[in-house]
Parts: sequence; structure tokens; C-alpha cells
Amino acid sequence: MGSASMLATVAMRRLEGKVALITGGASGIGECTARLFSQHGAKVVIADIQHDLGHSVSESITDSSSSSSSSSATYVHCDVTKEQDIENAVDTAVSKYGKLDIMLNNAGIGGVNKTNILENQKSEFEEVINVNLIGVFLGTKHAARVMVPARCGSIISTASVCSCIGGGASHAYTSSKHAVVGLTRNTAVELGQFGIRVNCVSPYLVATPSAKAFFRLDDDGVHGVYSNLKGAKLETQDVAEAALYLASDQSKYVSGHNLVIDGGFTITNPGFTVFGDRK
Ligand SMILES: NC(=O)c1ccc[n+]([C@@H]2O[C@H](COP(=O)([O-])OP(=O)(O)OC[C@H]3O[C@@H](n4cnc5c(N)ncnc54)[C@H](O)[C@@H]3O)[C@@H](O)[C@H]2O)c1
Repeated sequence: MGSASMLATVAMRRLEGKVALITGGASGIGECTARLFSQHGAKVVIADIQHDLGHSVSESITDSSSSSSSSSATYVHCDVTKEQDIENAVDTAVSKYGKLDIMLNNAGIGGVNKTNILENQKSEFEEVINVNLIGVFLGTKHAARVMVPARCGSIISTASVCSCIGGGASHAYTSSKHAVVGLTRNTAVELGQFGIRVNCVSPYLVATPSAKAFFRLDDDGVHGVYSNLKGAKLETQDVAEAALYLASDQSKYVSGHNLVIDGGFTITNPGFTVFGDRK
């Protein structure tokens, strides 16, 4: 590589010197985002409950990183429903890499796929709320604990298109993702005075292990689901790119925003057919 193109590569690294913590970073959207953040120069802490997978993802990120000074990724066991685990994950980021610039509250579950409310058990509803909402609350709280004294930081949560429409998933999942937007907005208002931005990303269906299991589909099945935008497939990389924008200084005045990544799905009203089919 010539020196001019090397300089360009370094200049294009949008998270150089930053430290990121990603919950649910061992798989799917979280894993892809961890790899992208590292490629952009961030040190990454992967917090998950999948021990072996989390370790192997963090080792592979470190192996492919150009940084020679210290390992550029670390795995920490963290169940986001347990406050002590979240506290420890945040403290690990600070003790290992000196600070926390970016918190990605990404861990989430679909829960049981039962659409009939009469069949929904309270315990099943609570399980989803615990991971998808309480986990985001705890992640946001402990990120704020170290970001407030630093007077900066970017907190991002992975919500879903189910944060703005009904009928896309179970009652518990839809409720949890709507609530993530509420928490994002409330904390963006509170934490703005400390220079901390809080946003969320809301993807449509992506072919990750949990989405495929929830909808009982393979990759082809996921890509065959209705899309408003023809000719493009939503992939984990697209969600990671949106998170990168919100994590980086390119979005320095964006806070309290729900960045929907759905090819126009949620703003389509199928009751109106004014545009018809144009082939
Ligand atoms: N895949 C989709 O279609 C889709 C669409 C919209 C939103 N999302 C959201 O994206 C996020 C990531 O999901 P994904 O599709 O990449 O699924 P995934 O199953 O590939 O990854 C989720 C990760 O979260 C971890 N996790 C689960 N419970 C945890 C807990 N209690 N503590 C810590 N980690 C835990 C899992 O071990 C896994 O590594 C979730 O919040 C999900 O709701 C996914």
C-alpha cells in the first residue's frame, strides 16, 4: 500500500482512539458492529452470555486489528438483566482501555412466538422485558455513570421496526422496543446537559440466528419476506453502518433520534395503492 492510500485509510477511521462496549456482541448485529467499530479504530468490549463465541469473536477481532499496543477487543461475561454484570462490564472497559466513549445496548431476545395474548404467560412477557428493556436501562445507567464525569459519550440502543408499528412480533417484543424509544428520548433530554448523546437504531428483519429461530426461517426465507425496497437485502452490515454513524463525531448534533433502517417499510400504508406497480 502506498503512503498516500495508507494516510487515506487512517483518515477514514471514524472511531480512532475511542472505546466501545457492545452488549450482545457475540453474534448477529452486535458481532458485525464490533468488527466494524474495530476496523474504524475503536477498542471494543464484547459483553454477552455466550462465553465461547464471545471469546472467539474478540480474539478474531484482535488478530485482524492493526493495533500492536494492546488487544483491541475483549470479552466480558455479562447478563444484561443483572446490574452487577453491567456495572462490571462498564468498569472493565474503563480499567482496560481507560474510558468509555460508546455504549451499544444491543442484547435482545424475541421470546416465545405466541401472537395470541390469551396464550401469553406473565413470565414470558417479563423475560423479554427484562432483557430488551431493563437491560437497556441498566446499560444506559452505567454508561452514564462514567460518561457524565467525562462530559461526553454516545449511547446507542438496538430497538426495531417494532418500536414504531404494531403487528410485527409478539406483544412483549413490541412493547419492549416501543419502550426503548421512550427511554432513549428521556435519557437524551437528561444527559444532553453533559454532552452525552442518546439514540437508537431500528432495523427491519435481518437474517441473524435469533430472527431466523423466532420466525422459523432460513436466510432465503428472511430475504423473501415482504420488502418495500426492491433490489436490496437488509444485512447486519447495514445496521452496523448506522450505529457507526451514531457512534462517530459525524453525528455530533444528533440526539434522541430513532434511526429506522427499513427501506421505507414502516411509513408504508398498504391501505393506499396510489403508486401501484411500475415494472
Ligand atoms: N435480526 C433482526 O431481524 C432484528 C430486527 C430488529 C431488531 N433486532 C434487535 O437486534 C438486537 C440483536 O439481535 P440479533 O438479531 O443480532 O440476534 P442474535 O441472537 O444474533 O444476537 C443477540 C445477542 O444477544 C445476546 N444476549 C441475549 N440475551 C442476553 C443477555 N441477557 N445478556 C447479554 N447478552 C444477551 C445473545 O447471546 C446474542 O449473542 C436485538 O436487540 C434484537 O431485538 C433484530
